[in-house]
Amino acid sequence: MKILFATPECAPYVKTGGLGDVSGALPAALAALGHDVCVLLPAYRGMKVSGEVGDSVDLPATGPWPAAQLLPVRADNGVTLLLLACPALYQRPGGPYVDQTGHDYPDNVRRFGFLSRVAAMLGTTSSPLERWQADVVHANDWPCSLAPLYLAAARELNAHDPVAAGVVTIHNMAFQGVFPMEHADLLGIPYHWRGIDGVEFWGQLSMLKGGLQFADAITTVSPTYAREIQTPEFGVGLDGVLRSRAERLTGILNGIDAQVWNPATDPLLPHRFGPGDFAGKARNKAALQAQCGLQPDPGALLFGMVSRLTSQKGIDLVLGQLEVLLRDGGQLVMLGTGDPGLQQALAEAAARSNKAMSVTVGFSESLAHLIEAGADTFLMPSRFEPCGLNQMYSQAYGTPPLVGGTGGLVDSVVDATDDPANGTGFVMRSPDAEGFADAVTRLRAAWRNPKAWRRLQVNGMARSFGWEASARRYVEVYEQAIERARPRFF
Ligand code: ADP
Ligand code: GLC
Repeated sequence: MKILFATPECAPYVKTGGLGDVSGALPAALAALGHDVCVLLPAYRGMKVSGEVGDSVDLPATGPWPAAQLLPVRADNGVTLLLLACPALYQRPGGPYVDQTGHDYPDNVRRFGFLSRVAAMLGTTSSPLERWQADVVHANDWPCSLAPLYLAAARELNAHDPVAAGVVTIHNMAFQGVFPMEHADLLGIPYHWRGIDGVEFWGQLSMLKGGLQFADAITTVSPTYAREIQTPEFGVGLDGVLRSRAERLTGILNGIDAQVWNPATDPLLPHRFGPGDFAGKARNKAALQAQCGLQPDPGALLFGMVSRLTSQKGIDLVLGQLEVLLRDGGQLVMLGTGDPGLQQALAEAAARSNKAMSVTVGFSESLAHLIEAGADTFLMPSRFEPCGLNQMYSQAYGTPPLVGGTGGLVDSVVDATDDPANGTGFVMRSPDAEGFADAVTRLRAAWRNPKAWRRLQVNGMARSFGWEASARRYVEVYEQAIERARPRFF
């Protein structure tokens, strides 16, 4: 099967969160199953890519769209990266979505409308690549979401030519790509799709809704989140659309990339370790305490956290419960960026903590790995969590997580109070301060019992979160989507 995986971010080249990790690993897992996979990714400023570079293909300027180039790079994981080079849109200081001051680029509608459009072109007979037309275009999150709408439009215009099936994956309902409807002309949205059955969302234009309405299949990143987003509480205004398309919505749990997240081989760790030998883990803890300026205390219960600093992640719960965390010599180490108010509140708390709490504001792969490896337990009290990857990384690193009872967290963590023999962490029983404090109390009790704690660690390390099973589920979804997209009238 020819699969075009379209994404605005892809590890290790460009990453702001879990979508980057998924884009770095899932296409490779699909290629390992024997599929022909291309990853379409904007060529952002300063991105370093290695691999065998092929001939670039020109995309001429048309209508409102600038000229661009597709640069194929054959990566060593069996995937072909297709870098979409368009300096006017993508070569900027700042991140993929926001400028250096943290504000959305004012022309994101154009930047990602173009990405969606090129993704769709690769699934039609007008594919710019010679002899390569996708069978399925897999569009990730709102920045690629218009691709299935464009594919549906191509199908409507010409029922005789083959057109790829369109699949949308929702990584987070909180981000929908909503813009003023006046951009519908720029984006070339057909008039009859500008209403409530098309892209319209409270008078605006929603790129994610466009994708959901026209996708041949919709997936999200855990079975629980697939159910949650069909309710008003978690659907962020699109739960009705999702309920109406429930028969084509599937939840597939993300995996983890064992090449990158394996404590026995991790090159970013000062000391490696495994389930049979925890000495390296203790040394990583000492290294982490030293690097972050915490008291060098091997017996302290060290809580770790690596997170975007947003209300999604329950940072306010952590701030409100610092006393509970830091009592009895507890320590907390945090790495994150995001909301300036949260950053400041955390930094102030750390300054007051007398070396019991450390906050690093910024993005650091190596510190993220060291926290996973050196902390005793990992905090992820999210209010909602489509999948979450850190709770899986922490299980693999012998760092039992404390997680919110939502989304992919409940699909990937076994609560040790409910199931002591198989437990791998602690799941909050309510999404509030009480639920958090209760989970910390249960966790502390287990920590005081070294045998019980070791069992938790070993159970987590024995779990298999590999991508292969999930990649096979995606292939099934692609097959269903291709079947749905097949013209019925011949
Ligand atoms: P989300 O995508 O909602 O942010 P996930 O748990 O799915 O949450 O994935 C987050 C990914 O981003 C993980 O790989 C995590 O380690 C990484 N990450 C988040 N914040 C930082 C940071 N400040 N520095 C380094 N890595 C980070
Ligand atoms: C989003 C979600 C996160 C998920 C990631 C990858 O950023 O917030 O839960 O793990 O996408 O799918």
